[in-house]
Amino acid sequence: MITEKAPGKLYIAGEYAVVENGYPAILVALDQFVTCTITESAREVGQIISKQYTNDQLSWRRMGDRMVVDKRDNPFSYILSAIHVTEEYARSFERHLRIYDMHIDSQLDSASGRKYGLGSSAAVTVATVKALCHFYHLPVNKDQIFKLAAIAHFAVQGNGSLGDVAASVYGGWISYHSFDRQWLAQQRQYLDLKTLVDLPWPDLKIEPLVAPEDLELLIGWTGKPASTSQLVDKISLFKARQQDEYHRFLEDSKACIQRMVEGFHQQDLEVIKHEIRYNRDLLKRLGTRSGVNIETPVLNRLCQIAEKFGGAAKTSGAGGGDCGIVAIDRHANFHGVLKSWAKEKIEQLPLSVHFIDDIKYSVQQRLPL
Ligand code: PMV
Ligand code: MG
Repeated sequence: MITEKAPGKLYIAGEYAVVENGYPAILVALDQFVTCTITESAREVGQIISKQYTNDQLSWRRMGDRMVVDKRDNPFSYILSAIHVTEEYARSFERHLRIYDMHIDSQLDSASGRKYGLGSSAAVTVATVKALCHFYHLPVNKDQIFKLAAIAHFAVQGNGSLGDVAASVYGGWISYHSFDRQWLAQQRQYLDLKTLVDLPWPDLKIEPLVAPEDLELLIGWTGKPASTSQLVDKISLFKARQQDEYHRFLEDSKACIQRMVEGFHQQDLEVIKHEIRYNRDLLKRLGTRSGVNIETPVLNRLCQIAEKFGGAAKTSGAGGGDCGIVAIDRHANFHGVLKSWAKEKIEQLPLSVHFIDDIKYSVQQRLPL
């Protein structure tokens, strides 16, 4: 039996801009996990079983006369894609593919089946890739796991930056520059998977960051789930219609993230807080101008309360619900924030940053007994 886990994440800054090749964002991995357990099966059928994902519901929409099923919000799509990609990789190491049962356990989806917006699709993809690499004794490091999981995730979602996958693989605080996904899609047709994974990917840059000692991260959950892929679709329309304004947003966001990264290098909480506020303004403006409800009224309250107590707050990720984040001095009155949040039915998620060591299992292929 093999078990591997992958953490959830939150965006700290740089959302939406990071969807464009080479643009940066800052993310953090959190100690809430998706676990994937694989047991070899003696039978002819394998099973994929999940406690939280009950596949008894399918969402669809009308596109002209067609009924289109959106598989991007279905966790099983990510699990199957991760299996497909990792087994293709295993074949390039001449592994014999086996039959197994796979159990998925997610702490990133609440008991009632609602998601917190902590990157459950990225984490389930990463956990599945890691468990299968372990199961097939593949010699992989974090870079290779990231690339396999990114290929699997991109094949399903298609419009994401893959920053959430990076946070789930590398752990801790990171700055992430998204790679050229058009290049990846093209190369995927011509190159075998192993060659593709071993190549440097254009524009991809992942740097671990060290947070200042006095930085306390607070997370507020609105209780309302949001669909990232649908929000990103809407911003794509704005990109097409308001090209100049969209490009101004991209450049402003990039400069903001560069200054924030410098704040991390200098261990300067004030710089980081300043840039979080500036990034919030950029995202608010993007939302207003595009008609996309990024900072909802509840998220707005969440930020207002945190600001009253001296924190720097913003929406996290695509917004529209899910979570907001606050950077606040460890010595400030952050309990005041939590009390006021509770009055407004904003739930604090008491999570900590999760760091990840490099892969530890032995990569020697087990010999058949
Ligand atoms: O809402 P989340 O946590 O899934 O974050 C989405 C962040 C975006 O930049 C809007 C999209 C992306 O793929 O990076
Ligand atoms: Mg979200």
